[in-house]
Amino acid sequence: MIIKGIKQLFKKIKTKLPDKRNFIFNFIKKNSVCCEIGVWKGEFSELILKKNNPAKLYLVDPWKDFGENYFDKKHVKYRQENQNQRYNLVNKKFKKNILKKQVEILKMTSQEAFSELENIKFDFIYVDGNHQYDFVKYDIDNYFKLLNESGYLIGDDYRIDAVQKAVNDFIQTYKPKNFFVKNDQFILQKN
Ligand SMILES: C[S@@+](CC[C@H](N)C(=O)[O-])C[C@H]1O[C@@H](n2cnc3c(N)ncnc32)[C@H](O)[C@@H]1O
Repeated sequence: MIIKGIKQLFKKIKTKLPDKRNFIFNFIKKNSVCCEIGVWKGEFSELILKKNNPAKLYLVDPWKDFGENYFDKKHVKYRQENQNQRYNLVNKKFKKNILKKQVEILKMTSQEAFSELENIKFDFIYVDGNHQYDFVKYDIDNYFKLLNESGYLIGDDYRIDAVQKAVNDFIQTYKPKNFFVKNDQFILQKN
């Protein structure tokens, strides 16, 4: 009971604080072609829409329960009924944007979405899907190629060891023009 109350209080405080990712939008050009890998309840997607007013925003998430060992967080959060609720919420939240074709939802993994997106050039790709090494490495290796010349690939949770290792291994091989970390976000700039 007390723990639930404290959790709710933290949640309330968190929603009142400015998003730690606001700074990203200082260097992403307005009306960009964007993609978010890992959407959850669409909270960061809302921020992209508000701050960037993208020409197009692709939202990639399977909203699927892949079982115990797939996620780095508590499995209960990913039970299919919870995933369904989040998928429905996101569809509802962005109904108008979907109708005017500003937002497109790809209900699939980033691996499955790749063939749908591989001919598009992106200004901004946000990587925040499965946080285990192989998945993060896959997302960065493959989606970085889809950036246009001045594009940015940014990802969340750099504090997590697996994420950090995937990013560092990527940098060793691809040597992007720019790499820095701020507020737990890793920022990779193409050219
Ligand atoms: C940390 S949450 C995303 C949070 C969201 N970016 C935000 O900031 O509001 C991670 C999401 O990644 C999704 N996910 C898991 N594996 C994935 C994959 N292979 N491709 C794309 N999304 C994945 C999960 O379903 C979950 O909704």
